[in-house]
Amino acid sequence: MRSSSGILRTDRRELLIMKVLGINGSPRIGGNTDTLLDKVLQGARSKGADTEKIVLNELKFVPCQECEKMADDGGCLVKDGMQPVYKKIKEADAIVFASPVFFGSLSAQSKMMIDRFQCAWRAKYILKKDAGYKKIPGAFISVEGSNRKDFFENAKSIVKNFFATVNVQYKKELFCSGIDEKGSILKHAGCLKKAFDIGVKIV
Ligand SMILES: Cc1cc2nc3c(=O)[nH]c(=O)nc-3n(C[C@H](O)[C@H](O)[C@H](O)COP(=O)(O)O)c2cc1C
Repeated sequence: MRSSSGILRTDRRELLIMKVLGINGSPRIGGNTDTLLDKVLQGARSKGADTEKIVLNELKFVPCQECEKMADDGGCLVKDGMQPVYKKIKEADAIVFASPVFFGSLSAQSKMMIDRFQCAWRAKYILKKDAGYKKIPGAFISVEGSNRKDFFENAKSIVKNFFATVNVQYKKELFCSGIDEKGSILKHAGCLKKAFDIGVKIV
């Protein structure tokens, strides 16, 4: 059962702290996406949640190899930096996925991670098996230099597909346009406030 304070109450009356996992698909540390994601996680912590951030650019992993043989439990056979990501998503109680718009879509780092969930897609939709992803809420946040709504829609459709594959319910989104230079998000107090509020509400 979810309470309003970032605490999950189990049937055994144990109190568990909610875990919110942030995934940053931008290569620019301290950039606009990173800053917005930190705000969301700050909001979640203000409600008592535990937070963790994965920076995809810091992981050593390869793109999906389209292995002909996949693990029948929904796991990926490629043992690289993606393995902890699968585990952390399974353990999380909420996910915040963040990516800048690159060429009208997600960053390469983001898409590379998402493709690696083909194993979970196969388990869910072909094998009709439980790959171990529980139903949790998720949010998507993104920034772009231009003012193109269609770019965000493009990115969003990919994220929604990914979320559905790992049983994440697409609950919140934040799209900030006209944000280009590193740090320029700091001039947009409205976006920062919305990001903080997403963190509060996702808990
Ligand atoms: C490789 C690359 C591609 C980009 N493509 C787009 C684009 O298609 N549309 C757009 O509006 N901005 C584009 N941008 C601008 C970024 O979305 C923008 O600078 C954003 O604030 C970067 O966020 P970050 O600081 O989190 O990396 C691109 C930037 C890079 C580096």
